[in-house]
Amino acid sequence: MSTINYSEKIHNNVNLSEDRTLQRALEGWQPNFINWWDDVGPEGSTDYEVYLRTAVSVDPQGWAQFSAVKMRDYRWGIFLNPGSADREVAFGDHKGEKVWQDVPGEHRANLRRIIVTQGDTEPASVEQQRHLGLTAPSMYDLRNLFQINVEEGRHLWAMVYLLHRHFGRDGREEADALLERRSGDENNPRILGAFNEKTPDWLSFFMFTYFTDRDGKFQLAALSESAFDPLARTTKFMLTEEAHHMFVGESGVSRVIQRTVAAMNELQTDDVGRLRAAGVIDLPTLQRYINFHYSVTIDLFGADQSSNAATFYSSGLKARYEEGKRVDDHILKGLHYKVLEVQGGQLVEKEVPMLNALNEVLRDDFITDSVAGVNRWNKVIEKAGFAHRLSVPHKAFNRNIGALAGVKVSPDGRVVSAVEWAANADKWLPSPDDRAYVASLMGRCVEPGKFANWIAPPAMGINRNPVDFEYVRFN
Ligand SMILES: [Fe+2]
Ligand SMILES: [Fe+2]
Repeated sequence: MSTINYSEKIHNNVNLSEDRTLQRALEGWQPNFINWWDDVGPEGSTDYEVYLRTAVSVDPQGWAQFSAVKMRDYRWGIFLNPGSADREVAFGDHKGEKVWQDVPGEHRANLRRIIVTQGDTEPASVEQQRHLGLTAPSMYDLRNLFQINVEEGRHLWAMVYLLHRHFGRDGREEADALLERRSGDENNPRILGAFNEKTPDWLSFFMFTYFTDRDGKFQLAALSESAFDPLARTTKFMLTEEAHHMFVGESGVSRVIQRTVAAMNELQTDDVGRLRAAGVIDLPTLQRYINFHYSVTIDLFGADQSSNAATFYSSGLKARYEEGKRVDDHILKGLHYKVLEVQGGQLVEKEVPMLNALNEVLRDDFITDSVAGVNRWNKVIEKAGFAHRLSVPHKAFNRNIGALAGVKVSPDGRVVSAVEWAANADKWLPSPDDRAYVASLMGRCVEPGKFANWIAPPAMGINRNPVDFEYVRFN
């Protein structure tokens, strides 16, 4: 099962050639995928040869093989982690039953919706990032961007396979629609808000890959325990790739900070004007970018109380993060969880049935995970001898989904008036001036071993290669 067949048009480890109808349907979708890639994939990259990792099998030796390839010839394909015949459902009303190899009729609509929503984020992020190659701060960073782009393309393949294989005609229609929606398109936007935002500069890209790809990690982890076994095995393999995306974000922001604190030490100042004159990104601007990307991303987990979340869990479609490590009954009936709401102009906690609060549970796990990396960024500032600290804003800040939508809350968690919000918005979120300044720093710097002035080089290169390795050949 884990050997990948490369003699076929579509690389796969799912014995695709044994199902001619499915194979033909996917071979019909494949040219549309390539057209989509040519149309809205990484701009100007068609002839580049990029040092990419490619999966040749899903086992530890095979999933990260490195070589120089043209991205268009990347081995997009269908890879599922090996299954175990006797896996049992680990949570919800079907706990203890055998996992499903096919979609039960009663859960079909919900499963399709889950798969389509996940699938839609994958091409969306490629579209959001398509111009970034033109302003890469180094060849090393350019390679990392492209690595992420091809893998998000493959994640789309993963979801399209499930739609084609398990959902008949409406699955095929959904697969086509995944190539038709466009990030930010007014008439046919991507499904989720954060995936219609622009990723206009590399600071946004690093924040996106730190925060928003981490949302992906939590969603995929929750689906990797699904009772629908093909979904569980697909998302397990996707998770191995997601780790690199978050590494790019965390190390990217960390390198920006390193460069900034070095300039603060050289110039003996934290004056924003002087630091900007020196061409580095001041820490208050970084904080506002964190505030924006964090708040937009935690909205992705959905409403704090949701009957859909309860249904998805109880019917075995979507677990909690690390379900297996939890010590409760994995059914959750009669348990409670705290969510926030506004009462009398103040945020207060309220106990609600846990099943209805599972979006909030996943969001809180995400928050814990996000904060850990922000603390590592603070270590860089501390080591350079400065007292300034970065933080994530209060989880009620700048929210647009659930009970907190429309409530104005400051980053430190005070409910504020519309007037106070308006007076401070430019201190709390990136201002047009911040964005223009960051944009002014973006210029293409892609000679091997050279780095733009606003970012420090990484500690080491990719796959133990030197930092100045020729990661991209511009043909
Ligand atoms: Fe992805
Ligand atoms: Fe990702």
